[in-house]
Amino acid sequence: MDEKFCKLSIDKVLEYSKESSFAVYLRLSSSKFVKVVNIGDDALEEIVDDYVSRGLETLYVEREVFEKFQERIEGALSKNFKNIGISEDISERYDGLASALYDVKSLVVNLGMTEMNIKVADQLIEAAIDQSEKITNLELLLELLNDKEGFITKHAFLTSYVVTNTLEKMDWSTKDIKRKLVMASLFQNIALETDEQAMIYTQDSDEFRALDEFSKDLVLKHPFLAADLVRSPSFSGEEIEKLIQNHHEVPISGAFPGRVSAHNIPILDACFILSGYFSYKVLTQKTKENYSLIAQKLNEDFNTGGFKRALVALFAAFRLQ
Ligand SMILES: [Fe+2]
Repeated sequence: MDEKFCKLSIDKVLEYSKESSFAVYLRLSSSKFVKVVNIGDDALEEIVDDYVSRGLETLYVEREVFEKFQERIEGALSKNFKNIGISEDISERYDGLASALYDVKSLVVNLGMTEMNIKVADQLIEAAIDQSEKITNLELLLELLNDKEGFITKHAFLTSYVVTNTLEKMDWSTKDIKRKLVMASLFQNIALETDEQAMIYTQDSDEFRALDEFSKDLVLKHPFLAADLVRSPSFSGEEIEKLIQNHHEVPISGAFPGRVSAHNIPILDACFILSGYFSYKVLTQKTKENYSLIAQKLNEDFNTGGFKRALVALFAAFRLQ
């Protein structure tokens, strides 16, 4: 947690700036922030829109400003959960879940795993599981996501849908395991700043090489930073931390941190890594005709060690082969 600045979702920056005036900062490195909006700046919306178009999902405000908004964020969350609970419309529920995910993440990043934050994170996980159960097939979900913004958020919910359906094909599936996988899905990229960073799966890609030094460092560390952020004896547990730490350990060259070989990967981690990677591929290669190509490539890359069983389960869940 940074001492002086707090992360605030761009949605909330725009919403709250309509009623009060505060300075907004952009993070340049782990310790360097630059003021991009001064108090009372009329151009706030224009400036913030520009960051949205660059794929940023959060900006920073001074800690005292965030603390003033904290109660409002908590109030908005509880209202949001109520609406998600009663809405019959999956698109409306998705919007509610996406906004709840932003808010829970900013509370956790800025304030840590407090009792209140554990409570709202649990509510979010429950609501995400409920939504996954209501979606009857992958095509329907992809169609819905097609109209939505924000890769990190879409990837979080798609991974939780894919991994819970993959899990159904395992005879050891339990409600508790499902909760762990959904939690890891939602929080895996909590330490990242932009969609662009979240779309990098290997460090030998051109996209990785094109990043500035701060982003490169953040991308390589984010599995550990995220595991640290959700660490709490009553919330996460070692298994979830490991899932998050290992979420980029794909059996492809350039995987990071590159500490676990495909032969030693636990089955739970294999299901999670594969589901996250499949979700990334599906979201970034939009056309439906590419499905069989994605499946073919997965078959080449993941048909190894502990990933073999996960691959069979994922293919069975989505009738890919
Ligand atoms: Fe990631």
